[in-house]
Order: sequence, then C-alpha cells, then structure tokens
Amino acid sequence: AKKPAGVPDVVPQQVRKVGVVGAGLMASQLALVFAQQMQVPVVLTDLAAERVDKALSWVREQASKQVQRGRLNPEQAEAVVARVTGSTDTSVYADADLVIEAVFEQLEVKKQVFADLEAIVSADTILATNTSSLSVTAMAEELSHPERVIGFHFFNPVAVMPLIEIARTDETSEAAIATAFDVASRLRKTPVLTKDATAFVVNRVLLRLMSEAQRAFDDGTDVHAVDEALKPLALPMSPFELLQMVGLPVAQHVTESLRSSFGERFYVSGNLQALIDAGVTTLVERDAQGMSSLTRDAREIVT
Ligand code: 3HC
Repeated sequence: AKKPAGVPDVVPQQVRKVGVVGAGLMASQLALVFAQQMQVPVVLTDLAAERVDKALSWVREQASKQVQRGRLNPEQAEAVVARVTGSTDTSVYADADLVIEAVFEQLEVKKQVFADLEAIVSADTILATNTSSLSVTAMAEELSHPERVIGFHFFNPVAVMPLIEIARTDETSEAAIATAFDVASRLRKTPVLTKDATAFVVNRVLLRLMSEAQRAFDDGTDVHAVDEALKPLALPMSPFELLQMVGLPVAQHVTESLRSSFGERFYVSGNLQALIDAGVTTLVERDAQGMSSLTRDAREIVT
C-alpha cells in the first residue's frame, strides 16, 4: 500500500508486546483494541490495584458484549481477555516493544512516567503518549533517548473512531514514525502525521466549536437550545454529550492547554468548572427527540 505523505521509507520495528500505562477510560480502551486488533499480549499498570482490576473487568465485559452482538465468537473473546494482563509493578514492561501512556493529563506526571520507563525498557522501545494537548517534545526532552518518543492520539470511543494522530517532535526517529504507522495499520485505524503542536489538529478545530457552545451555555442559553441550533450541522453527537463522553475534567484540561497556547479564542467554561468542582460527571441525558438536556444534578449546580 502507498505510504501517506511524510512517512519515512524505513522498516518498522517489530511490535510483539504492548504496554499501556494507566487504567482509566482511555487506557482500558487502548488495552482492548491492542489485544483485539493486533493480537499481541498487552500489559497494563496503575498505581492502584483496584484501578487495574476495574480496567481488566471492563475489558472482560466489552469482550462478552461483542460475543452477544455476534462480532466475536466465544473463543476469540476469551483469547482477547487472556492477552490483557494487569499489574501495579512496572517491571512487566521490561520486554515490551511499545509502551503507550494514558495517565492523568499533566506534563509532570507524564514526564515522570517516561523517565521511570526508560530505566525498565530497552533502548529502542517506542514510548508513545496518548496526550490530547500537552507537548510531546517537553515529555521527551530530559530522556536519554528522546528519539523514541512519539504522540499516538486516539479518539473516544476508541473501538469506533478510525483516526489516530501520530505526532512527531523534531527528535522523533524515522524508525519510530514508521513503527507508529505500522501499528496503526495493524489496529485497522487511519493514521495522520502531525507536528507536535498543542492539541495537534482535531482538538484544535473541535475545541473551537466546543468553546463557542460552552460560551453560549455560560451566557445563559439552555444546552437543549444550543443542540437544536446546531442540528443543521449534523454533528454525530451534541457538544455537551461529547464533553460528557470525554470526561469533564479531561475536556477542561484540553481547553486550558489550548487557551494558554492560543489565547482567548478558546473558552474555559465557568459552568463546566463548577460542575467539575461539584463532582458531577453526568451532564446531559437524551430526550425522546434525541436532543440533550441537562441532568437534574447538573441543573442544581449551574442555575
Ligand atoms: N464502544 C464500542 N462501540 C461503540 C461505542 C463504544 N463506546 N459507542 C458506539 N459504538 C458502536 C455501536 O455499537 C455501533 O456499532 P454497529 O453499527 O456495528 O452496531 C456504532 O458504534 C454506532 O453506534 P450507535 O448507532 O449506537 O450510535 P451513533 O450512530 O450515534 O454513533 C458515535 C456513536 C460513533 C460515538 C457517534 O456519536 C460519534 O461519532 N460521536 C462523536 C465522537 C467524537 O467526536 N469523538 C472524538 C472525541 S474527542 C477525543 O476523543 C479526543 C480527546 O483527546 C479529548
């Protein structure tokens, strides 16, 4: 197959085992998709054993849902589940060829994860980040081998969304880029090569729209009205549903990163912050017409 523009013509490294760092929403989805599509062993770790257990249970549930829907037969589902193992001990990454981190969206946390990994993995293991908006360059700059660091950005829900943004820094090696493209094709995803820049491409465009939707909401327009007004755009999902699916704190972090890089055209919503502070996670529900309206919990906070 023809290589997309900018992809180096070098032989990709072999990826026979994948590590996922973290056990949250994205990490669990990544573990599933690597085990299912690439059919390689996947090790996942988190600081807390309960979070690891929760991620593994989620993978099991998703595999059995796919059996119910006829997408996998029971043997295939069992094989997927068996490929994913979890631990709190990061030495399980020692023989991984690719480790992708999906931990808390904070630069210092991600830098520490990569520094710890460098002490465990071999010198050419690819270190990938699923960051939405932090600098991949900054994550790599203090490492001994910054050339193996690459952005590998998936979209929610990972099983369905075809795109992966592969973000290269000025240091990223040709082998790492070629390997990332090879992995994306083994995952049956569509990779695009972007430069490392705040939020790459998709979130820069998407969060402009989301910013204005939230600005209208903060200005006093009901979410239902915003949704109805945007209907002619035929978005796959209401902006507020999308916020909820991504997770309110993650969405807020992405907007904050964009605002600090690009200024006030990105809008950090006061309503959203109030909801996050109050611990609200369910922002909207769908009505009979398929439009979203605020949940009772959310209405109590923002009105
Ligand atoms: N996991 C697995 N499969 C799922 C799923 C999930 N969470 N959600 C939906 N699906 C599957 C369904 O099973 C169905 O498959 P089938 O056709 O084979 O039966 C298919 O997807 C379509 O689902 P539905 O008919 O239930 O619903 P929709 O047609 O409304 O599609 C959607 C759901 C694909 C999620 C669609 O609403 C959509 O594309 N929404 C926008 C998503 C988006 O923009 N994501 C990007 C977020 S930004 C991001 O992640 C970046 C981060 O950095 C912040």
